[in-house]
Amino acid sequence: MPKLEKIWLAIGSGSLVLFLIITGVMAVGMGLNPPDGMQTTIEPDKVEAQAPFDNPGLEQIGPNEYKATILSFVFGYDPNTITVPVGSTVHFEVTTKDVVHGFHIPGTPTNLMLVPGHVAEYSQTFHEPGEYLFLCHEYCGIGHEVMYGKIVVEDV
Ligand code: CUA
Repeated sequence: MPKLEKIWLAIGSGSLVLFLIITGVMAVGMGLNPPDGMQTTIEPDKVEAQAPFDNPGLEQIGPNEYKATILSFVFGYDPNTITVPVGSTVHFEVTTKDVVHGFHIPGTPTNLMLVPGHVAEYSQTFHEPGEYLFLCHEYCGIGHEVMYGKIVVEDV
């Protein structure tokens, strides 16, 4: 084998090993896992048997404060419509029972990636009445584009 080829092979395998070491140190040593907001873990194949996802829905937890427990699946959300009065803060906790999905409310900072085994959380206050679309923005299969729901913020 020519000398130059050996050198390039060594550089190639060296960088592969280096990248694997970096990934390993970050994942195991530094505990860097999926994107932020996914601290809680859940058994991915028994999601519906575990609280709170055994009973998804909207729950009022204080004046103008709600907890929205939403389960995502191919291709939809349970529940897919929630209604709150204007000025409400909604604490979303969302997970998936099958593949990776997204939970995004366009025009707002709510932008979650739903990874099996993790519960994504985010809080959003709705200052303006109206209908807010939420949708899946992680390609998840043939029905990806019909995966959406809405938040109705009622003027009171
Ligand atoms: Cu779910 Cu795309």
